[in-house]
Parts: sequence; structure tokens; C-alpha cells
Amino acid sequence: MPASATAAAAPTVPAAAMASRVLACTACHGKEGRATQEGYFPRIAGKPAGYLANQLLNFRDGRRSYPQMTYLIEHLTDDYLREMAEHFAAQDVPYPPPPAPQAPAAALEQGRRLVHQGDAARRIPACVSCHGSAMTGVAPSIPGLLGLPRDYLNSQLGAWKTGQRRAHAPDCMADIARQLTPDDVSAVSAWLAAQPVAGGGKPARTLPAAMPARCGGVAEVPVAAALSAR
Ligand code: HEC
Ligand code: HEC
Repeated sequence: MPASATAAAAPTVPAAAMASRVLACTACHGKEGRATQEGYFPRIAGKPAGYLANQLLNFRDGRRSYPQMTYLIEHLTDDYLREMAEHFAAQDVPYPPPPAPQAPAAALEQGRRLVHQGDAARRIPACVSCHGSAMTGVAPSIPGLLGLPRDYLNSQLGAWKTGQRRAHAPDCMADIARQLTPDDVSAVSAWLAAQPVAGGGKPARTLPAAMPARCGGVAEVPVAAALSAR
């Protein structure tokens, strides 16, 4: 096995070997990892490579749980997982149009406002301040929020509230999810799931301003000066 530092730079695994390696994954995540916008399975195609790798490590090491998937990867090495993450990150497949919104107009507006503006009085930062103004994430470690099923979004935010999903410390998403009421969670999920995906869903290269909080696993994006000293 080559060192992980070099594995990230160029595809080191021949295409045919990679195709058989990821065959089991596509049974749930769909051809090329593109999933569908209904149902539950999240799309993994075209997501930032560092984010995908962090998630595979999270499942393998117990910070996330989905036993039917975890058993496939529990004995795999970091390098092997990173190579699969690179493979899915490199898939460039179009997003279908979003499903019709599944919430009343007032809830959708509440969701839109939280995503774009947050709620300073309740210490909820705008989601776009980290996930990017197009909500397509930031390379290499911050995921986009579009093209995901509403049920999946609801479940992830709920899992962060209860501690069932964890990220590398400091777990900024756990702090944010705990500030959201159940109504906020369903409003945000319903609004996000109904948005079209702009620009092929490609993650942004940088954020225009520093992130409002520190997040583990995200080394490359600056954090607001007042926070970086903590
Ligand atoms: C039995 C169905 C199934 C199989 C097989 C499967 N997955 Fe998953 N995967 C899921 C589900 C469901 C989730 C979301 C679980 C949750 O957190 O609720 C998930 C989550 C993920 C995530 C995180 C996505 C995100 O946006 O955070 C990644 C990455 C991933 N899977 C990669 C893989 C890879 C690589 C394989 C093959 C080695 C694989 N999966 C096989 C069902 C599956
Ligand atoms: C301070 C930066 C920051 C802010 C603000 C933020 N996020 Fe996140 N979010 C992250 C990071 C970093 C991750 C990846 C965590 C990991 O590695 O598991 C993430 C992951 C997520 C995921 C998981 C996506 C997936 O594919 O599983 C969802 C859903 C999410 N955030 C929703 C939100 C919502 C909704 C808001 C606004 C209420 C928000 N985030 C605000 C940094 C942030």
C-alpha cells in the first residue's frame, strides 16, 4: 500500500479494481454513488473527498452508525477508505430536479431564513457561513446540503442532537443541532430538500469569510479571529 500522502494526489488504484471494490456500495448509494432524492440513501457522488473520507472513518470507528454499511468497511485501512472517497468525489454526474416541497409555506420560509441568516438571538449561525453561499460545500472537508432526501437531513440533524452522529472534535454541528428545535429541524430539512442544485453541485474552493466556529476535521478554512484563540 502506498502512503496516504501520495494516494491523494493521483488515482493509484486501477479502474477495474476500483469498480469491483465499490460494487457493494452502489447497491445502496446508486450507480456512481448518485442515489435518488427520494428515500433515504445519501448521494456520495461529487462530494468533497476529505468529507467522504472523514465519514468512512466515522462509520468504521463508531462515530456514526449504520450496521448494514459498517460491516463492509470495519476491517479496511485508512488508505483503502481514502481511495474509495477519492473515487466517489471524482464522479461528475448531474443532479435531477428537486422533488416538490413537502411543507407549508410558513415552514419553508422559516427553513430558508435559518439557512441564509441563522438566528443570532438563539446563537444559530447561518448555515451558508460554512456550507457556502451556493450550499454546495467547500473543498475538501465541508459537505454541501443540497440534493439530499428530506428524511436523511432530518435524521442527521436529529442524530447530532442525541449524540448518535459525531464528527471529529470540536464537533461544531453537534453544537448547532442542539440549538435547533424540532420545528427548526423539519423546516430546514424540508426547505433544503426542495432546492435545485446550482453549478453541478461542485464544492466551492474557499469561503468568502472566516467560519463562525471551529470544526474538527476542517483544517484548511480560517476561523473568526475571536474564536481561534480559544
Ligand atoms: C446497505 C446499504 C449501504 C451500503 C451497502 C453502503 N452504504 Fe454508505 N450509507 C448508507 C446509509 C443508509 C447511509 C446514511 C446512514 C446514516 O448516517 O443515517 C450511508 C452513508 C454513507 C456515507 C456518508 C454520506 C454523507 O453524506 O455523510 C458515505 C461516505 C458512504 N455511505 C459510503 C459508502 C461506501 C464507500 C460504501 C461501500 C464500501 C457504502 N457506503 C455502502 C447505506 C449503505
Ligand atoms: C461552523 C461551520 C458550520 C455551520 C455554521 C453549519 N455547519 Fe453543517 N457541517 C459543518 C461541517 C464541518 C460538517 C461536516 C461534519 C463531519 O465531518 O461529519 C457539516 C455537516 C452537515 C450536515 C451533514 C451532511 C451530510 O451529507 O450528511 C448537515 C445536514 C449539516 N451540516 C446541516 C447544517 C445546517 C442545517 C446548518 C445551519 C443551521 C449548518 N449545517 C451550519 C459545518 C457547519
